[in-house]
Amino acid sequence: MPEMKSKPNLGRESPPRDLRSFLSLLERRGQLRRITAEVNPDLELAAISDRVLSTGGPALLFENVTGSSMPVAINLLGTMERVLWSMGLEQESELELLGKKLALLQQPRPPKGFQETKEFGGVLWSLLKAQPDLDLTPPCHQEVFKTEDLDLGNLPLIRPWPNDASPIITLGLVITKDPETQVPNVGVYRLQKQSSTAMTVHWLSVRGGAGHLRKAAALGQKLEVAVAIGVHPLLVMAAATPIPSQLSEWLFAGLYAGKGVRLANCKTVNLQVPSFSEIILEGTITPGDVLPDGPFGDHMGFYGGIENSPLIKFHCLTQKRNPIFLTTFSGRPPERRSNASNCAK
Ligand SMILES: Cc1cc2nc3c(=O)[nH]c(=O)nc-3n(C[C@H](O)[C@H](O)[C@H](O)COP(=O)(O)O)c2cc1C
Repeated sequence: MPEMKSKPNLGRESPPRDLRSFLSLLERRGQLRRITAEVNPDLELAAISDRVLSTGGPALLFENVTGSSMPVAINLLGTMERVLWSMGLEQESELELLGKKLALLQQPRPPKGFQETKEFGGVLWSLLKAQPDLDLTPPCHQEVFKTEDLDLGNLPLIRPWPNDASPIITLGLVITKDPETQVPNVGVYRLQKQSSTAMTVHWLSVRGGAGHLRKAAALGQKLEVAVAIGVHPLLVMAAATPIPSQLSEWLFAGLYAGKGVRLANCKTVNLQVPSFSEIILEGTITPGDVLPDGPFGDHMGFYGGIENSPLIKFHCLTQKRNPIFLTTFSGRPPERRSNASNCAK
């Protein structure tokens, strides 16, 4: 059974906002069920989770997953209540305050009068608190596997639906950097396993990562990619919220959280990832290197098509000791994606 408590964070007053702290909170509030029976990540795990979700059941932690030593957490944002908890809120009405804060940031004119200036000052203070900081001894580097020891087959990748092409990563933060401006982009995009070290990424052409690849191709460069798996759900929500490309998702996540995200420099690529991530994959895409991706069951309840998609070749995996894998699956609403997007609205 994995240790749920994070090691004390000596540099900061409050405990880290990581996946384990959220699982602990859910467990304390009776909203986490541990499954000790062996469960297969191929179809079975998603089928059980789907049934539990449809009855408004708790988040699940599968502790005995066929073919992997890692436990799998799923359905974390399965109810509106849990979405609010992930944001450090208790009431839906508190979302309005957060919305107001974010709206003030987009205001195109300087504040007028005392009240507006006071509110704006509060927002600037929030912005200062939201700045990310750098962790020089990140927990996500406790174990490091380079190319020769890297095997994606060790991860408990799920295959949710019978006609799905291959096992997938569904809740990874896919991190890239604009080759010109160096502004990072963080998005949640499905990744399909293609071999023991490579996965295709299914990003729509309008997504930040796709834009970065087009720029890298024009410059004749490879694009570096990091995938962070097993982060606090707040970071997942920040990554899945469409924000202007010149704004960093890390800052945005800090605004959501009320404090900055702790980041770590990757081992082999020039990117930063949340320091408390359970697992980090580091790799590159060579422009033009594609493989067929799909089909997969989608959130409308149908299978999507097969599309040639960029191939990420991974050469490094780092992880916490005894990592916990975080995942989700697509399906007709209600499911956690719809809860998360309700909140983002
Ligand atoms: C669970 C989940 C899965 C998602 N999968 C994809 C996907 O496969 N491809 C995609 O383009 N967007 C996907 N999205 C939506 C993007 O993550 C979201 O639009 C995000 O804002 C994109 O960031 P970007 O605009 O900075 O690229 C997914 C969102 C969630 C919550």
